[in-house]
Amino acid sequence: MLLDQRRLPAEEAELVCTDVPALVDAIRTLAVRGAPLLGIAGAYGVALAAARGYDVAEAASLLEGARPTAVNLGYGARRAAQAYGAAVGRGADVRQAAAAVLAEARRLHREDAEASERMARHGLALLDELLPGGSHRILTHCNTGRLVSGGEGTAFAVALAAHRVGRLRHLWVDETRPLLQGARLTAYEAARSGMAHTLLTDNAAGSLFASGQVDAVLVGADRIAADGSVANKVGSYPLAVLARYHHVPFIVVAPTTTVDPATRDGASIEVEQRPGQEVTELSAPFPPAAVSGTTGRLPRVPEAASGVAAALVAPVGTRAHNPAFDVTPPELVTAVVTEEGVVCPVTGTGIAELCARSRQV
Ligand code: MRU
Repeated sequence: MLLDQRRLPAEEAELVCTDVPALVDAIRTLAVRGAPLLGIAGAYGVALAAARGYDVAEAASLLEGARPTAVNLGYGARRAAQAYGAAVGRGADVRQAAAAVLAEARRLHREDAEASERMARHGLALLDELLPGGSHRILTHCNTGRLVSGGEGTAFAVALAAHRVGRLRHLWVDETRPLLQGARLTAYEAARSGMAHTLLTDNAAGSLFASGQVDAVLVGADRIAADGSVANKVGSYPLAVLARYHHVPFIVVAPTTTVDPATRDGASIEVEQRPGQEVTELSAPFPPAAVSGTTGRLPRVPEAASGVAAALVAPVGTRAHNPAFDVTPPELVTAVVTEEGVVCPVTGTGIAELCARSRQV
């Protein structure tokens, strides 16, 4: 059972997935999203397959293939499938093996919550070190809070920790085109947490930096390669360039499960390409409730790619370039904050040491 993120903030609706294809669809259409949560969903998906008596290996591979960039998805699905294999290897029957997978998914869920807490602690200490005595004005992109995690999230959890100790002066929330994770989800989480926040169009970030109103950028990650390159929601890389130009720290917050030593560098990260309709129509993948009230002056078309009413924001037939992520090179990243500590400066050696440390734990 998932909170259907496509419907937020208009509606807090549950989505029940009774089989793996339904969960794969929920992942593809972003009902459930964000790297750490995708890992948790992948693991529970394999547990669901095991409980239903489906082919566990096939389920894991279907889930892993649902979206290519967030490494956590494959990690969660594979870890759960391995738990099933190990249980069968110990002589467990099908029911016992299914219970073992569910226990593993719950363990991953708990670990993610703990990682969240530790990232928040390390991230707050880093902010205080980089911006001494400050009350911070933080810019964030996409959505990285409780909605994407077993705990309070990644980058957002750091901002929340600063808020709790009275050191968050302001949270700037990028709307995050085209699917508006910032506007729909981060603004929703910030409001629920009582954080002073303001929404801006992605294009407005440059002038905000220029006017000296950003002290730090905090973002999450979908995959961190062995050389420290960071794949995150499209629009993160331009923020890193802006941050460097304006001498503002660009900080990436992610659990070690997002670090992928098997991906050598940024160029080796597969960036998901999404349907052009997400750019040319104001609808997909949201159901009508989520766009109601926003489409008054725009022409409505009867049927969008998602099968729901949509508003066109480009002439019919316009081709759109719609990568879901971009890659920020390590030299533009001030620090990577994980539950195992902070990597700063961000280099291949620093990432390798982090991986060695997290394997020992
Ligand atoms: O396409 P999405 O919404 O799944 O993208 C999510 C992001 O890019 C997040 O910033 C990333 O997963 C980090 S979440 C802690």
